[in-house]
Amino acid sequence: MIIQTRNLTRDFDSLRAVDNLSLNIPEGEIYGFLGPNGSGKSTTIRMICGLLTPTSGEVEALGYTIPREAEKLKARLGYMTQKFSLYQELTVEENLQFLAAIQGVPRREQKARITELCGQFHLEKRRSQLAGTMSGGQKQRLALAAAIVHKPDLLILDEPTSAVDPESRREFWEYLFELAGKGMSILVSTHYMDEAERCHRLAIIRKGSLSAEGEPLKLMENLGARVLLAEGRAEEMIHWRRQLSADPLIPGCTQIGNRLRIMVASEVEEPEAWLTRSFPFLGDLERTRANLEDVFVRATHSEHMEEEQ
Ligand SMILES: Nc1ncnc2c1ncn2[C@@H]1O[C@H](COP(=O)(O)OP(=O)(O)O)[C@@H](O)[C@H]1O
Ligand SMILES: [Mg+2]
Repeated sequence: MIIQTRNLTRDFDSLRAVDNLSLNIPEGEIYGFLGPNGSGKSTTIRMICGLLTPTSGEVEALGYTIPREAEKLKARLGYMTQKFSLYQELTVEENLQFLAAIQGVPRREQKARITELCGQFHLEKRRSQLAGTMSGGQKQRLALAAAIVHKPDLLILDEPTSAVDPESRREFWEYLFELAGKGMSILVSTHYMDEAERCHRLAIIRKGSLSAEGEPLKLMENLGARVLLAEGRAEEMIHWRRQLSADPLIPGCTQIGNRLRIMVASEVEEPEAWLTRSFPFLGDLERTRANLEDVFVRATHSEHMEEEQ
C-alpha cells in the first residue's frame, strides 16, 4: 500500500468535512476519489500530503507517518491542484527551472531533466513562451510536468482537469497512464464519471465518508440493482420520473434524451414485470448494463434512506 488512512476525520468547527475515512491505496496504480463538490476530497488530500492536521485518525503515505514525517514525504511527492500554480510571467523553461530549484533537483541535472520533460509533454516548441499566453490544456500539461520535475514516487492530483475542455482532459489522462505505466503511483480526485471510470480503483466519497470502493468494473457488476430503459415523450417523462423516484425500490431514475434510465433494487425478482405492474403507463422496457453513474447514484441513495430512518 502506498497510502493508508485509518478513521481519518477532520472537523471545521461544527462541520465534519471528512468522516472516519479508512482507505488502502495500492502502489503503482491510478486511484480515484470521486465525489461531488464539498464531499471532502480536497480536505482528505491535504491531510494525506501533510498540509492539514487531522482532527482524529491516522495517515501513512510511502511508509511515513503523516503529519509527523511530512517533510520526508514532500521530497517524494508530486502535488498538483485545480488552480494552476504557475508563474504566468515566466516562460515554460523558466517555470520548470524554478520548480526544479525549489524541489532540490541538483543543478547539473536540471537542464537535462527540463529537456526530458519538454519532450515527454510536447512542450519543446513552447520552451520560451510565457506560461500566461498558453491555452488551458497547455498550461495544465506544464503544471503536470512541473509537479513531477523531481521524479516523485507518488503523484497527487486534486481535480486537475476541472478547468479544461474535454479534448485536453482526454489527452491529460493519456499522460497519466504513461506515468502510471512507468511505475508512478497516482491519486486523483474528480467529479467526472468518465474520468473515474478510467481509474484502476476508486473510492466514492459522499459527505466526507466512503460510499463505495473498488475497481470500476466490479462496482458496476456488484451494483445490487438492475438498470432498465423506458421510452417516452418529454412532457410525460417528468411526471414519470417523479412517481418512480418516490418508490423505495427504485434507487435511481434519470432522464437521458427521450429515455428514462430506471434502476430497480435487486430485492425485486422480475424487474420488468414488477415495473409494468406498479407503473402501467410505462411502455416497452429494455435492459441495459450498469455504468459508473448508476453506482454513484445507488451509493448516494442508500445514504438518503439511512438519513430518513
Ligand atoms: N478551511 C476550511 N474551513 C472551513 N470549512 C472548510 C475548509 N475547507 C473545506 N471546508 C468545508 O469542508 C467541506 C469539504 O470541502 P472539500 O474538502 O474542499 O470538498 P471537495 O474537495 O470534495 O469539493 C465543505 O463543506 C467545505 O466547505
Ligand atoms: Mg476540492
